[in-house]
Amino acid sequence: MAEILQLADARDRALALLRAGEVVALPTETVYGLAADAGNGAAVARIFEAKGRPRFNPLIAHVDGIGMAEAVGVLDPLSRRLAERFWPGPLTLVLPLRQGSGIHGLVTAGLPTVALRQPRGIVADLVAGLGRPLAAPSANSSGRISATTAGAVQADLGEKIPLIVDGGPTAVGVESTIVKVEGGRLRLLRPGGIEASEIETVAGVPLQRGDGGWVEAPGMLESHYAPDARLRIDAREVRPGEALLAFGPRRVPGWEKAMTVLNLSADGDVREAAANLFAHLSELDRRGARAIAVEPVPETGLGEAINDRLRRAAAPREIAMETRSQ
Ligand code: TXA
Ligand code: MG
Repeated sequence: MAEILQLADARDRALALLRAGEVVALPTETVYGLAADAGNGAAVARIFEAKGRPRFNPLIAHVDGIGMAEAVGVLDPLSRRLAERFWPGPLTLVLPLRQGSGIHGLVTAGLPTVALRQPRGIVADLVAGLGRPLAAPSANSSGRISATTAGAVQADLGEKIPLIVDGGPTAVGVESTIVKVEGGRLRLLRPGGIEASEIETVAGVPLQRGDGGWVEAPGMLESHYAPDARLRIDAREVRPGEALLAFGPRRVPGWEKAMTVLNLSADGDVREAAANLFAHLSELDRRGARAIAVEPVPETGLGEAINDRLRRAAAPREIAMETRSQ
């Protein structure tokens, strides 16, 4: 099993492992990440190996501020404004990759662009200590739910990694919002921890969205974030044998017969629901649910990110098994 260190005691050991080209699971404000030196190809390859990713999707490079971002990517006035307003925080910007950035090609999967974000907490500290960005996807096996606690990382990846830094449950609970900046225009590649409308307000331009409802980050086209149980979203009733993932104060018909019930937010607060989403899905698996009815979650605010993850979790598994990638 992996060693688990509390946040306050972890910095030196984590930094030593990262310098040695090892992977370390680290808390961010969104979900736990599996981090490695973004300039070291062998270290980055260990991330893919530990996650069992079937192919090399590009990873987010985590920076310690706009200065480091400028050294790796090309920021225009619009991306600079977004970074100034939302960093550190759950916003990832996809930008043109700068020549001589020092980022290994495995991180960008050979693309001419790079995904950058400055997270809150120990990751930015470690990046500053290392002097280079840390590549980090979510710390979960390919196709599984993202981990929002150190215990969830241990249960999933503990056999494969040396260290997990325990920062408690993550505050936001869903991954960062990914926005591609291209020629003064913004494209939403993945809804996430910052509401699309907040970004539009600061940017002063609308976020363009992919057609067909699925967002467009290369690793986002497929079903993933899946629990073991089958999911039925936007459920208007609970069917025999189903567990219920509830939202808000009012229950759908048949809820009394549900195999078990968990509520994402009894007050109907989408922020609270986002923070609970992955932990509740795992807990329903632990309780032995085979099928989960999910009450409708409004599309407002973080509801967009929640519904995105729920749709992926509910996608048909035959396709999912072939193409899951995160
Ligand atoms: O909150 C988060 O974003 C977490 C924490 C650990 O920072 N990280 C995370 O990483 O969710 P990951 O690897 O699970 O998701 C990153 C997504 C993938 O869907 C990938 O396809 C996309 O970012 N991505 C990375 N580089 C890209 C690029 N150059 N262009 C388009 N999409 C990119
Ligand atoms: Mg992921």
